[in-house]
Amino acid sequence: MSKIQTYNQPTSIVIFGGTGNLAETKLLPALFDLYTQKLLPSVFTIIGLSRKEFSHDEYREFVRASILAKKSEVQEDELSTFCARVRFASGSFDDSASYKKISDELTQFDASIGRCTSKLFYLAVPPNLYAGIFEKLKESNVMALCDGIGSWSRLLVEKPFGSDLATAEALERQLCELFKEDQIYRIDHYLAKDAIENIISIRFANSILSDSWNGTRIEEISVRLFESQDVSTRGSFFDGIGTLRDVGQNHMLQILALLTMKPADVHSSDAVRKSRLEAIQSLVMHDTDNRIRGQYSGYLETSGVDPKSTTETYFKIETHIDSESWKDVKVMLESGKALDSSFAEATVSFRPTDTCSCGAEPEVHTHRNVLRIMFSPQQSICLSMWVKEPGFIFKLHERELVLAEEEGEVFRSPEAYERVLYDCIIGDQTRFVSGAEVTASWKFITPILESFANLPLHEYEKGTVGPVIK
Ligand code: BG6
Repeated sequence: MSKIQTYNQPTSIVIFGGTGNLAETKLLPALFDLYTQKLLPSVFTIIGLSRKEFSHDEYREFVRASILAKKSEVQEDELSTFCARVRFASGSFDDSASYKKISDELTQFDASIGRCTSKLFYLAVPPNLYAGIFEKLKESNVMALCDGIGSWSRLLVEKPFGSDLATAEALERQLCELFKEDQIYRIDHYLAKDAIENIISIRFANSILSDSWNGTRIEEISVRLFESQDVSTRGSFFDGIGTLRDVGQNHMLQILALLTMKPADVHSSDAVRKSRLEAIQSLVMHDTDNRIRGQYSGYLETSGVDPKSTTETYFKIETHIDSESWKDVKVMLESGKALDSSFAEATVSFRPTDTCSCGAEPEVHTHRNVLRIMFSPQQSICLSMWVKEPGFIFKLHERELVLAEEEGEVFRSPEAYERVLYDCIIGDQTRFVSGAEVTASWKFITPILESFANLPLHEYEKGTVGPVIK
């Protein structure tokens, strides 16, 4: 596709949790960015819902401040016209009256433009509220106000989807009873990052890599997500969840799926999701595989954390892929909070070869080529190469081929939430997780979580590489 796709039918966007942190720091700035790039439909309204007692104008002030807090250069006229399209409904998520208010706001807007708008409902609320909101959405009929008249209604839901296989399956059952799969957009914002989607092009559009991207040539794949930030003010959210559920079950498995899935047509959402699903379904953990869990010292003093908590803030697990093409490949996933640095990367180590007997005699050359794909803080791709050291003797040394963003490069990657909202509006589910992917990932993760209960919880100091196990 060489042209940016747009959807230009009148659209209403309802944000549950319209004054919450996610709306304030991500969604409202992302919607404004889409607006300034003319990627929102020309006729739209945004309705924020929360318990706060805001008037429409007070909410507009909130929206303006949220955008200004994130963006240094804003055109005042654009900001004013954007904020003028924003409205507010006050109410709690479990009260039928709130849904009546939203319904009235939507009907009123539709009447004012003389058209029935497409409707997007964004659940930017804690996951324990999902089930109640799904019920009320269905009961109030608010998602079906314009059924059958050329418009759509869609639901954007944030992870986590459940906390283990049983809870995820129950949530999925409820979702699928109430809504159709093509209405449900399950967010994993990592799938919406350009740097991560790039895995597909690196692997499949470059014959030099695609031909050797298999278990015969690859020895090990690892995915790391390190964060120097501790749990900070998110204690009550994080405690009882832990790092494996928070980022392992979703972001990291999705990266792994992109690294190991079979080729798929990137323009077919079904094909890409099916390929990712098969990759997740083929993950297996052997009893003998290494698993390490840790907790940084000081975690138990965090506000909102149980002083006796055994929640892990760090994990490292080894796993395998149960398929002919990936057998004998070691896969490693590692993530933690309060570590010495912040980055997200994947490394792929190729098996060594020495068909030229290039090693320093009498040894053979056993060094690996390692492809390092850095997703953040900067995007870069490095491939370590073994080349002859200049001089009279034949000796190898390691050099790196680096592909990095140039300073001042004209390309701009959309923010993940910009992409999430844009994709939902144009109706592209490729970068969203299917119900089957959610189930498959919990099927793999749940036994590991269960096994964690019998593992030692290693303490590590903040600002280090995690637990040091002697
Ligand atoms: C979120 C987790 O899904 O992803 C957070 O809940 C984590 O704990 C975050 O910090 C990492 O995302 P990003 O985009 O900042 O790398």
